Amino acid sequence: MRARRSLIDLDDLSANELTYMLSRAAEFEEDDPGHLLAGVGTVNLFFEQSTRTFTSFNLAQLRLGAHVVNLAPGDLSLATKGETIEDTALTLAAMGVGVLVVRHPEAGFTQRVARAFDGHVINAGDGAHAHPTQALLDLRTLRDEFGSLQGRTVVFVGDIVHSRVAHSTINGLRRLGANVVLVGPESFLPESYAQMGVSIERDFDAILPQADAVILLRIQRERFSSMPITDAQYVAEYQLNAARLQRIGPGAIVMHPGPYNRGMELDDTVLEFAGWRYAQQVRNGVFVRMAVLDFLVNGPAVALGA
Ligand code: NCD
Repeated sequence: MRARRSLIDLDDLSANELTYMLSRAAEFEEDDPGHLLAGVGTVNLFFEQSTRTFTSFNLAQLRLGAHVVNLAPGDLSLATKGETIEDTALTLAAMGVGVLVVRHPEAGFTQRVARAFDGHVINAGDGAHAHPTQALLDLRTLRDEFGSLQGRTVVFVGDIVHSRVAHSTINGLRRLGANVVLVGPESFLPESYAQMGVSIERDFDAILPQADAVILLRIQRERFSSMPITDAQYVAEYQLNAARLQRIGPGAIVMHPGPYNRGMELDDTVLEFAGWRYAQQVRNGVFVRMAVLDFLVNGPAVALGA
């Protein structure tokens, strides 16, 4: 029997699996694949708020014909009755649940669930650690735009240190041959990131003309005990706005994993910019999650080399 696989971060996928997943998502967008997950029990456990990821997983599961149960943390015996997450996982598996989608504020929590659950676990974001399906949808959006990402320059701006999206997407971009540049103040972007094989740049204006894609990030205030820089300083140095859009090269695009904060990392002119790809990212999210669900439950549709 095929070992049950989970997706905790992009490292769980081989190079071939990663590119397969991206093309499978494109296939699903072209042609609705029907009920590839007919009758499979899926449970979504979100211990943190979510609009996009939660809705997107639900739609992906429903389009594939899965049975869907959504459990909010307050609904769980875990919350008040002393049950451990391991015992919750065991209980859900005994009911025949095949897939758990988990979001949690603690890094490593989803991995813990995966060790206890006899089924597939998909990480929908664990603390500042990883968010692999967001990375896949970002990669898919970039590939739609540029084809191969080899040699393309992708610039992340903002609160990198708390961004599980940046952590997972950087991993994927490096594997697909893109140049990754990280931009932000020291408190959001420690020098240690240079060890990831990326460039660190403090001056947003200087790097903008070289970017093929700029990925803006929200400042994750909920993960700071006190804010290291004022909003006014951040806006002055790192907000993408009308003046900075003038510096961006022709054909360059701007992305954001959402939720975006108007007046902070971007102003309204970005939302009207021809290269703004946020809606495309969100749209791709559903197809990418369908591809992940299908891959984990049914395996690849074609033989993939090592
Ligand atoms: C983000 C997340 O929750 O990691 N959004 C998302 O899933 N698309 C980013 C954030 O909260 O700023």
